[in-house]
Amino acid sequence: MYRRFIRPLLFSLSCEQSHRMAILLLRIAGFVPGGRWLLRRCCAVEHPALEREVFGVKFPNPIGMAAGFDRNGEVYGELSAMGFGFVEIGTVTPRPQSGNPTPRIFSLQRDRAVVHRVGMANRGLETAIRHLRNGHKGVVVGCNIACNASTPPAEASADYLRCFRNLYQYADYFTVNLCGDDMQQDELLDSEAYMRGILEPLFDFRRGQNQYRPILVKISPDLSDETIDRVTKILIETPLDGVVAVNGTFSREGLIASPSSLKRIGAGRLSGRPLTKRAIELVRRIHEQSGGNYPIIGTGGMMTPEDVEEMLAAGADLVQLHTGYLYEGPSLLKEICHRLIPQPKAPDTALAEEPMREHTQTDEARVE
Ligand SMILES: Cc1cc2nc3c(=O)[nH]c(=O)nc-3n(C[C@H](O)[C@H](O)[C@H](O)COP(=O)(O)O)c2cc1C
Repeated sequence: MYRRFIRPLLFSLSCEQSHRMAILLLRIAGFVPGGRWLLRRCCAVEHPALEREVFGVKFPNPIGMAAGFDRNGEVYGELSAMGFGFVEIGTVTPRPQSGNPTPRIFSLQRDRAVVHRVGMANRGLETAIRHLRNGHKGVVVGCNIACNASTPPAEASADYLRCFRNLYQYADYFTVNLCGDDMQQDELLDSEAYMRGILEPLFDFRRGQNQYRPILVKISPDLSDETIDRVTKILIETPLDGVVAVNGTFSREGLIASPSSLKRIGAGRLSGRPLTKRAIELVRRIHEQSGGNYPIIGTGGMMTPEDVEEMLAAGADLVQLHTGYLYEGPSLLKEICHRLIPQPKAPDTALAEEPMREHTQTDEARVE
């Protein structure tokens, strides 16, 4: 249904329009009586084998929606009904910001990729609180936070703290987004002092609270291996609870799209299939460097159930989808969940259940 009807419709619109349309359809489904129930019946896969507990939070399954889709926390209930084990809303900034001028999202269909430079457009902290205030029992919601684009780097930490403090009681975990839409932020991350300057006030605030909220950082795939190792060191040395790896890349290596169309699109982060290998590599590196002890949410180019299996095998505890979901739709999530439910070994079961059955040629082939 999604691949036949909805995807062609969404891809016939501009990426920005199709995102708005998807949010609208989900909101309508949420308003219609029985809408969420129907979504759950049609899309969600529920099974005890899918449940996880990571950084003290219980997840119905390990597959979440990555940041950037539900930027204002409008449809996390509907996304959960569609089978996501958690939803990371945002990026939320203290004040509303309109982001970069449109067009700012471009699909590269032959590359199964998206180029985006949304510039963390969102309606600000107040709107996010309004959407989260009514409670989200049974839906795990992470909140991805950042400073406003207009905030000078010297004052950035106050913006992060403002988001963290005000959203503290409404979110199940926080992702500190240190990667902006431009290179400059990536370079800033090179500075350990900058990172610690953002994180320390959050740790201090959390120490004074009754409830514990895990804090993760989101990293860019374009960081050098040395910077990744430095982030891992910070992870070990501070009360940071985990890493979200990774955001989109600025690299354009290995694309099928012609140089002229890439030039026409211009700058932005690239997400989707071209990111798969680097995202898995980075997760494996962090997992190994941290002694396998730190929670990792793996995201980036998760386009098939096999990608997700590889990401989990590399050390991710949870996985997020974004571009893969835009291309494949709800069936991708369903297929992944089914794949993650251990199947009983068919031949053994057959033999155990029917010990007296005649041992035919077909059975031998199956047992092998
Ligand atoms: C259109 C679009 C908007 C995004 N906006 C955000 C954002 O606001 N904050 C953020 O942390 N990541 C954002 N991302 C990055 C995704 O959360 C994810 O990390 C990245 O796209 C890699 O996953 P994917 O290859 O499955 O898309 C965005 C991605 C896309 C495609």
